[in-house]
Amino acid sequence: MAQLDASLSGTFAIGGDLNVHRLGFGAMRITGEGIWGPPKDHEEAIRVLKRLPEIGVNFIDTAESYGPYISEELIGEALAPYSKGTIVATKSGLTRTGPNVWPPLGRPEFLRQGVLTSLRRLKLERLDLWQLHRIDVKTPRNEQFEVIAAMQKEGLIRHAGLSEVSVEDIKEASQYFKVATVQNLYNFANRQSEAVLKYCEANNIGFIPWFPLAGGDLVEGHKAAKAIMDKHGASGSQIALAWLLKRSHVMLPIPGTGKVKHLEDNVAAAAISLSDDDFATLDKIAG
Ligand SMILES: NC(=O)c1ccc[n+]([C@@H]2O[C@H](COP(=O)([O-])OP(=O)(O)OC[C@H]3O[C@@H](n4cnc5c(N)ncnc54)[C@H](OP(=O)(O)O)[C@@H]3O)[C@@H](O)[C@H]2O)c1
Repeated sequence: MAQLDASLSGTFAIGGDLNVHRLGFGAMRITGEGIWGPPKDHEEAIRVLKRLPEIGVNFIDTAESYGPYISEELIGEALAPYSKGTIVATKSGLTRTGPNVWPPLGRPEFLRQGVLTSLRRLKLERLDLWQLHRIDVKTPRNEQFEVIAAMQKEGLIRHAGLSEVSVEDIKEASQYFKVATVQNLYNFANRQSEAVLKYCEANNIGFIPWFPLAGGDLVEGHKAAKAIMDKHGASGSQIALAWLLKRSHVMLPIPGTGKVKHLEDNVAAAAISLSDDDFATLDKIAG
């Protein structure tokens, strides 16, 4: 097994002052099926979380809607009081009306409830990074952005971000608060958010690609990519993560799992340093 140390992925300063190791952890998968209810194996979920600081993972992504509440509660149970430098980023703005169902709700009072109850569940006094899970089309946008700015001013939130947004959305929200991160679907096989990534790079906004492991199969199924896997003694998923890390210095991948073994496989990708040639070969396959 390659060296297990997420710090090998390099660091990024969220909002200019919150240093994290770029390879993080997504805590959506430590819940039940359909991201609903408790995980099948509570003890394994706790073991996954406790393993994070041991292998250098200090950036954890969660949301009140994961479970709902379960993911945040487990993080509070396993990791609070947090080791120095651990950043838990959470999100609100989605309701849960059943397994795999996530209707957005951006009413200011709901977003405020999300922040106040996330603080309780995570056992924190301030959220280092809070993200609007979706901009709600049924609620005036200014009301959603204004309450975020207000909660920042009140000290409930340190940095704020957005999820599944366009460049125009980021520009509009930036008139109300500094957008520190953007969380959009992006991986080796799906580059639909390329323009947003470029905007984030130009403006030093952390870009958190969700579903980062997708594309591993594409790597494995391709002859030239297989040679790169063999050279690094790595799986297709690990190469897909290494590709993301090399793609941009603002990239903060958050692979998610409920299993210690998979967590360790993913963190091992931080030690893979792709050459420019490797990157160009992979880029052509995925592009
Ligand atoms: N902002 C948003 O709208 C949004 C949407 C979706 C997700 N997210 C965030 O992004 C994170 C990552 O997204 P994701 O969980 O959908 O995608 P992902 O991390 O690309 O893939 C997770 C899936 O891959 C499996 N897996 C993980 N590591 C593996 C390994 N080493 N070997 C084999 N299988 C492995 C997991 O199952 P096992 O549990 O069996 O390992 C899980 O089914 C989430 O945890 C969440 O924090 C955000």
